[in-house]
Amino acid sequence: MAMAMPLRWVAVVAAAVAAAMALDNGLARTPPMGWLHWERFLCATDCRGDPRRCVSEQLFVEMADRMAAEGWRDAGYEFLCIDDCWMAPTRDERGRLRADPERFPGGIRRLADYVHSKGLKLGIYSDVGNRTCAGFPGSYDHYDLDAQTFASWGVDLLKFDGCNCGSLELLAEGYRRMSLALNKTGRSIVYACEWPFYLRPVQQLVIGNFGLSWDQSVTQMAMWAIMAAPLFMSNDLRHISPEAKCLLQNKEVIAINQDPLGKQGYQILKDKNFELWERPLSGQAYAVAVLNQQEIGGPQNFTFSLTFLGSGLACNPACSVRQVLPASRDWGVYSWISSLSVGVNPTGTVLLKVMAL
Ligand SMILES: *[C@@H]1O[C@H](CO)[C@@H](O)[C@H](O)[C@H]1NC(C)=O
Ligand SMILES: *[C@@H]1O[C@H](CO)[C@@H](O)[C@H](O)[C@H]1NC(C)=O
Ligand SMILES: *[C@@H]1O[C@H](CO)[C@@H](O)[C@H](O)[C@H]1NC(C)=O
Repeated sequence: MAMAMPLRWVAVVAAAVAAAMALDNGLARTPPMGWLHWERFLCATDCRGDPRRCVSEQLFVEMADRMAAEGWRDAGYEFLCIDDCWMAPTRDERGRLRADPERFPGGIRRLADYVHSKGLKLGIYSDVGNRTCAGFPGSYDHYDLDAQTFASWGVDLLKFDGCNCGSLELLAEGYRRMSLALNKTGRSIVYACEWPFYLRPVQQLVIGNFGLSWDQSVTQMAMWAIMAAPLFMSNDLRHISPEAKCLLQNKEVIAINQDPLGKQGYQILKDKNFELWERPLSGQAYAVAVLNQQEIGGPQNFTFSLTFLGSGLACNPACSVRQVLPASRDWGVYSWISSLSVGVNPTGTVLLKVMAL
């Protein structure tokens, strides 16, 4: 569903962001970046029949190798995250979670060591309720033990899901208790909770997969940057087109996503099929996105006055305008009363950086 309707789910990202950045403990001060297996590999557990797709130690080792060797880590994608379906169907004799012994023969500790040796961090997955979404053992009644187990393995991030939880009260209480349990371990672990009642868990970047057109991929990258959303890819880094790789590693877009001012962008105008978004950046600059929601026809021009930006202050008295996406290009200097005309493809986005002079 997410892939067929990329423009509808850009709207839910904003709400998802807060979860990952709630604690002021020095972690996740800018949106975390990395790779998560879910959207692409789901709950594939048949390692004999489908070894390339199976959620296994092998899969994560191969992704870690790609992340380190092919520019992903250096572009900022530092977390390699395991999602649901990594566990054995039961806890061990001491009540601890354990990885499926066939698919993860070295256990999570060995995988974490390997991931760290590549200069990356390891994320893991659990659930607040009695069972995970896919039916594996949940953390309910084991929050402290599971937090300690993850810390002892050297885990750096926990995605904590909200399936199979009896009530909203239990969910909120469970999320709070796990956050305390993680803190008590003394290990720095980024904590990302999912709120399944409000959000479909589709905040992963699916660029490089099968569902998105080029224009939709540009839109996803641009809107994630504008909304300061975590950049978690879910794709197959062993098979990714040079175009998708270039887009996902685009330094200027990533710099907007990671801007140290830490302000989230917002929509300032909606006019028929066009949306105009802005995000205040450090250094008296703004990121501006012009999104064309129309799915048919050809490119259309959208014209807007620079006085719309930054409550009229973005370009006072003048600014330089640079196009970041779909291709980078300097547009030159404009006075604050100028208008800009931007041609945008159907389902596409033009991302600009506007800097006050
Ligand atoms: C887990 O199961 C137990 C026993 O059935 C129940 O008391 C508890 O409320 C359940 N927890 C959640 C979070 O639903
Ligand atoms: C635990 O919480 C305290 C208080 O918020 C914070 O100062 C500390 O850095 C946290 N420790 C970890 C390991 O997250
Ligand atoms: C859009 O603007 C360009 C350049 O200003 C112009 O050449 C083109 O004809 C315009 N297209 C439409 C559909 O108005």
